[in-house]
Amino acid sequence: MTEVIDGEAVAVEVRSGVADCVETLTDAGVKPGLATVLMSDDPASETYVSMKQRDCEEVGIEGIHVDVDADAPAETLFETIDELNHREDVHGILVQLPVPDHVDKREVLRRIDPEKDVDGFHPENVGRLVAGNARYKPCTPHGVQKLLAAYDVETEGADAVVVGRSDIVGKPMANLLIQKAPVGNATTTVCHSRTEDLDAKLASADIVVAAAGIPEFIGGSMLKDGATVIDVGINRVDADTEKGYALVGDVDYESASEVAGAITPVPGGVGPMTRAMLLYNTVKSASERHG
Ligand code: GUN
Repeated sequence: MTEVIDGEAVAVEVRSGVADCVETLTDAGVKPGLATVLMSDDPASETYVSMKQRDCEEVGIEGIHVDVDADAPAETLFETIDELNHREDVHGILVQLPVPDHVDKREVLRRIDPEKDVDGFHPENVGRLVAGNARYKPCTPHGVQKLLAAYDVETEGADAVVVGRSDIVGKPMANLLIQKAPVGNATTTVCHSRTEDLDAKLASADIVVAAAGIPEFIGGSMLKDGATVIDVGINRVDADTEKGYALVGDVDYESASEVAGAITPVPGGVGPMTRAMLLYNTVKSASERHG
């Protein structure tokens, strides 16, 4: 029987722990604050940011949102970041990606105070993660780790395949899986668009993390019997629905769930965990800044 990994249920537990910490900090006079910055007209990005703000409200974190006109010069975004870096009531800063083409993403990530970089994307924090001394684990891979732990998935000695090599998911995910415990010590292969014979790599994978951004790219016939399948993909595809689209993962859920031992659905799998770990990182920042 395939076990459905309920990301929303695990996220509820994480948010509950976060809410307790927020209460303790607030009672001590420090209300954790998360600033989100959106420089985009993309409706999906707008939705993600508003969900993050709603999450803040639920756990008692002060949500601060700044919109920057998508046509504004890059300097406007940099000045916004500088202001947030200096604000005592802001403990975490998240600039929603992607930013417009005329803005240098690397410069954006470098500009955020690494102590407030709750995404974990600043080069200093990337370096610390790779060195096994993470300040903030990036939210999606961290959420995946929590899901694997919550469902007692053995990573020690397992063969893991990460499909996708993005800076946000694929690379940090692979780094976490190869590190020593907790939820590491996996023999990890990173596959991507130039991988030859992906089927052969997946055929021996005990754990598959699908993060390629390609709708329903991985089917059941590619998987090892009993594999744990973590689907990070959230792809909008045209569909005859009220909204005119449907959300599907990188995994073909129907065929994969006939083969997998455990699998995350889309939506309701990794997505809620990504958002929960952002709250977790924000509270970590607030508690560390105020001792
Ligand atoms: N865009 C898609 N995922 C993310 C994320 O985790 N953080 C930020 N800042 N932007 C994103």
